[in-house]
Amino acid sequence: MKLRVSVIGTGYLGATHAACMSSMGFEVIGVDIDPTKIELLSRGKVPFYEPGLEELLQQEIASGRLTFSTDFQAIKDCDVHFICVGTPQSTNSLAADMKYVDAALDAIAPICKPGSLVVGKSTVPVGTAARLRSKLLEINPKVDLAWNPEFLREGFAVEDTLHPNRLVVGVTSDASEDKLKEIYQKNLAENTPWVRADLPTSELVKVAANSFLATKISFINAMAEVCEAAGGDVTVLAKAIGYDPRIGSRFLQAGIGFGGGCLPKDIRAFMARAGELGADQALEFLREIDSINLRARQRVIELVRKDLSDDLTGKKITVLGAAFKPDSDDVRDSPALDIAVQIAAAGALVTIHDPKAIEPAKKRFPALGFEENVESALKGADLVLHLTEWKQYRELDPVKVKSLVSSSIIIDGRNALDRETWIAAGWKFRALGRAN
Ligand code: UDX
Repeated sequence: MKLRVSVIGTGYLGATHAACMSSMGFEVIGVDIDPTKIELLSRGKVPFYEPGLEELLQQEIASGRLTFSTDFQAIKDCDVHFICVGTPQSTNSLAADMKYVDAALDAIAPICKPGSLVVGKSTVPVGTAARLRSKLLEINPKVDLAWNPEFLREGFAVEDTLHPNRLVVGVTSDASEDKLKEIYQKNLAENTPWVRADLPTSELVKVAANSFLATKISFINAMAEVCEAAGGDVTVLAKAIGYDPRIGSRFLQAGIGFGGGCLPKDIRAFMARAGELGADQALEFLREIDSINLRARQRVIELVRKDLSDDLTGKKITVLGAAFKPDSDDVRDSPALDIAVQIAAAGALVTIHDPKAIEPAKKRFPALGFEENVESALKGADLVLHLTEWKQYRELDPVKVKSLVSSSIIIDGRNALDRETWIAAGWKFRALGRAN
């Protein structure tokens, strides 16, 4: 008999995990306390933009294997329960807010059947898994808890879930590892690396990976600052160091830095947790990584000021991009949106375009100007800011765009546009980390 799976929390991680588990042949029930989310998902609608997910969701619902419910009783007969709820930054500290994870455990602990396995996938402060396991066993001694961090990237969520580059399982028994091997048998058949770890190590793998990625991005953004000061070009520098296989060329794209629902909050929560453990000195450098990252936003604003004689009042600025990265409609901690808000606060008349993220951005900042059509957004601009590197923007014709704007100045906050073509079309072209 195939294992029956529940997925608790149907946000980004959970909705994707549920659809992918179903496509691997398991019977899956997704549960969430939010009735709107469950209603949408049950109708095959994804409440956010993620390429390929809606098609997969509809296919799996049609197969009869995938269902959704707001009733936790619906999952009591499942063999494996994946906890996929969010762990946002707390409102009053850098630490992660654990209320959703605790609530999920409280809800399932009394109802899960003997022999079942609870598997945490959310990103949590180290020590959480052991704490939850004790709590679970106190209520329900015939079950076990394992940790299995998720490394999916937004924009590639389906691909990353179906074909992860590694599987990490934090377990305290062979039986729990075996059950997870049964769940991931398809991946094991594809020779996906399998790492068995203890509970704390499995939790640390996730935050260590995200800290490393954040460090790589801030490293290249620090180099961008030095390049600007020395008259160098960070894009050439990144290319040159990236040829060294020990360094590698990925995540060396200098620009306005990292945002989103993971990297910023994860490094902050990691620092907070290290402090609680008395290991704060070890992660002191992450504070610098965070500062470099936030400074990149200010550096773009300085470039804007420089080009507009330090006075933004009444200046028409078109912002290309609101999402924290392309192929996503996620605006959580989006550097692009943060910059747009700051220049609007300084008096600029901001018009924001994004192929997918206008609605979520508008919801957060209804007072900003938005435009669905990129050409209308560009009309009459005194300055154009390229802040999220959507393919659509790389395909813009600088000659045509020049005929729309009132002043042809563009700042490429992502070092993704073809500078030479824009300059050849008569634009004043600025970018972070390059001679301006
Ligand atoms: C990240 C991790 O990559 C993923 O493994 C983890 O599970 C969740 O967090 P994600 O938030 O989807 O995934 O975004 P990612 O692709 O890592 O990009 C994060 C941010 O860094 C984006 O704002 C992106 O624009 C920025 N970035 C990325 C750069 O500024 N430069 C780069 O070279 C790469």
